[in-house]
Amino acid sequence: MDRLVDFIKSGEKKNIIVLSGAGCSVAAGIPDFRSPSIGLYASLQSMKHLEMRSPTFVFEMSTFKKDPRPFWWIFGRLWPRADWPKPTTYHYFLTLLERHGILLRNYTQNIDDLESVAGLSHDKLVNCHGVLSPCHCLDCGKEVTISYCINAIQPNIAQDINDYTKVVVPKCPFCQKDHVKPDVVFFGEHLPESYFNYSNDFPKCDLLIVCGTSLQVEPVCSLPQYLNPDVPCFLINKEKVKEKGGKAKKIWDSVKNAFTFGMVDYTGIFDFEDKDSFIGGDLQENCLELINKLGWNDEFEALKEETKQSEHPLAKLISDANENEKHEK
Ligand code: OAD
Ligand code: ZN
Repeated sequence: MDRLVDFIKSGEKKNIIVLSGAGCSVAAGIPDFRSPSIGLYASLQSMKHLEMRSPTFVFEMSTFKKDPRPFWWIFGRLWPRADWPKPTTYHYFLTLLERHGILLRNYTQNIDDLESVAGLSHDKLVNCHGVLSPCHCLDCGKEVTISYCINAIQPNIAQDINDYTKVVVPKCPFCQKDHVKPDVVFFGEHLPESYFNYSNDFPKCDLLIVCGTSLQVEPVCSLPQYLNPDVPCFLINKEKVKEKGGKAKKIWDSVKNAFTFGMVDYTGIFDFEDKDSFIGGDLQENCLELINKLGWNDEFEALKEETKQSEHPLAKLISDANENEKHEK
């Protein structure tokens, strides 16, 4: 950690990229995908009635086109029932990097928009896996609002449904078919245009921080290969991922892989014995320690105060839509 603090304090790193994933929002109450037992895929795997080969199937385009119910079922279970999720220390740390003028970009695989709630500027954020709003109908191509979908699936949200065949799905208001989908990226879909900024950003980057991701999903997991060769990378994560290693390590990893649904792979990226560093343990605790060591405590407190009232963008969209509907009636 001290090495990262020294780099930041020295002022020599001015184009930091943060590459992030689901582990960054676990402390906000949103489960990640691949953590053993508590991750979304482990919970899905334990649901026998789904009769699936791989738990990622709910986010596969081919599944959605055949049957959109598994997706809307999991969506309804994850949708906040009471309070909207709040940004974590990690999210504020990201904004502080921007305010110090050293954040080039955050490439996130998350769709929860907590970066914006924590005050990160729109142009610093690339949502590699899309966003929840708006939605589009795959049949007629028309745009449908997220609030329309949320209203349509209220019965799913109101009850804790255990069987996906029992859920309702939003019908397209234009063509009445069942394939309205939020603009999040499914397996088998193209990434948004903004993602392709990587070819400008990564060659400019002088320090990469990778946080809360297992780096298993292409093409995002291959982004570090576009860095210049000497750029130091810091992995802040519960466990090491994508470590460069010898043959023995690969064999050991493949044994581990047998117990992790085949979702661990061995293409190493990080060279922890040389130019890269691993900061293990809890991400939020590590971000807090970084903030302390950087002497950014007062700014951190001020930022939390400043964004205290900032509403989640989706909460606002939905309440505005409901207001409009009331006026129209
Ligand atoms: P994963 O669930 O694969 O990885 C999350 C990582 O964060 C794991 O390495 C966890 O150990 C780590 N982690 C969790 N909580 C942590 C904590 N408190 N402190 C430190 N580390 C922690 O999530 P992603 O890598 O983001 O895509 O998954 C990538 C993509 O796979 C997602 O965007 C999604 C998914 O399928 C699509 O659906 C297209
Ligand atoms: Zn339609």
